[in-house]
Amino acid sequence: MDSETRRTLLDHARRAAENAYVPYSSFPVGAALLLTDGSIITGANIENASYPLTICAERSAVASAASAGHREIRAVAVSAPRSRGTSPCGACRQVLNEFRPVDGDMAIILDDGEDGFVTSIEELLPRAFGPRNLAE
Ligand code: THU
Repeated sequence: MDSETRRTLLDHARRAAENAYVPYSSFPVGAALLLTDGSIITGANIENASYPLTICAERSAVASAASAGHREIRAVAVSAPRSRGTSPCGACRQVLNEFRPVDGDMAIILDDGEDGFVTSIEELLPRAFGPRNLAE
């Protein structure tokens, strides 16, 4: 991924974090997804008085993208202003993996306060269980 796309995605994730609803943790997170048609869809964490019902920023973004008909995510940027390098939680890794492109990996960009640290779903969730297992 070129550095301009990386910076654009990070910028969207940082701005998405501003809409986080976090009255309980005060820990805002924003996520920005790059879809195969080049569009970007964002999400923020949405907490609930019944704490376990909280939706992480990544899953919030995936729900929006899938609801709009998208089925492949090329890249994801995650930004948590209170903690540099915040990485998707285990549940979000599994949900992101569902929409990994058929022909390749999904880049994951972590907000390190600079130009972003790039990793991938393959690295964060090796030997994942996914849709292809059920298709075999
Ligand atoms: N959170 C996310 O939105 N994404 C992650 O990958 C890690 C955690 C949120 C959930 C909760 O609202 C807050 O961060 C503290 O756990």
